[in-house]
Amino acid sequence: MDFKAKDVTFRATKQRRTDLMKALELEIFLCRSDNFGVLLHCHESNLTASIDAPEYAPIVAMAERRGWNITHILTTHHHGDHVEANLALKDRYGCEIIGPRNEAVAIPGIDRAVGDGDTFDFGGHVVQVIETPGHTAGHVCYHFPDSKLLFAADTLFALGCGRLFERPATDMWHSLQKLASLPDETAVYFGHEYTLANARFALTIDPDNERLKARAGEIERLRAEGKFTIPTTIGLEKETNPFLRAADPEIRRNLLMEGRTNEEVFAEIRRRKDHF
Ligand SMILES: [Fe+2]
Repeated sequence: MDFKAKDVTFRATKQRRTDLMKALELEIFLCRSDNFGVLLHCHESNLTASIDAPEYAPIVAMAERRGWNITHILTTHHHGDHVEANLALKDRYGCEIIGPRNEAVAIPGIDRAVGDGDTFDFGGHVVQVIETPGHTAGHVCYHFPDSKLLFAADTLFALGCGRLFERPATDMWHSLQKLASLPDETAVYFGHEYTLANARFALTIDPDNERLKARAGEIERLRAEGKFTIPTTIGLEKETNPFLRAADPEIRRNLLMEGRTNEEVFAEIRRRKDHF
């Protein structure tokens, strides 16, 4: 009897240890003025990925602090504030750079080009590539379905979405729909701390949304304390982010667009944000 009880305890402890080893650990820190640096570490395999490479010094400082050797860079798109440190980090760590196939020519140091529906392995964790054209023509997001993590960079922000530099609103709407179809509990890590301005804008589109009002208050408080608003979740964004809510009857009424398509309503919300 005694032995059995001990055995159960041992197995439970071992299970916890195995779970911990399998878990991915994240470090989030500021780069440049408002970019997020993200390091993703797998304890079991000892692999570390930098999600994009916005700035060399803070990324190296965090990797040094944690004793993590950067083995991968997962590039989402070609903008300078996402690839600036690619070559310098590759020079220092010899890391592999994975990036979007449709803009591979513009990704410094790219080793492996990936596109929609591709999957690859990161230390035993499956990574799914989701192409989300809109902000740029080849923008990709990286989804870790087992850990329920999404790295959405400049496609989906907390209460916002990326500006449409290279593709029309219709494309971005469909890209956002792909992300919205992920499980509600998926944690979303995005590229910039724009959330306070996004919240103030969202309230002009969806002023009677109680969930949004409460969230905006919480964001005001967090930012006043100098805290980040990352991550968000797919479920929370579907409830409060006007860029995912073009089908909402209340929003359509507010915009006097009740008979229009979702794409048209989305395009109007994006146009208003550009001039906000
Ligand atoms: Fe960008």
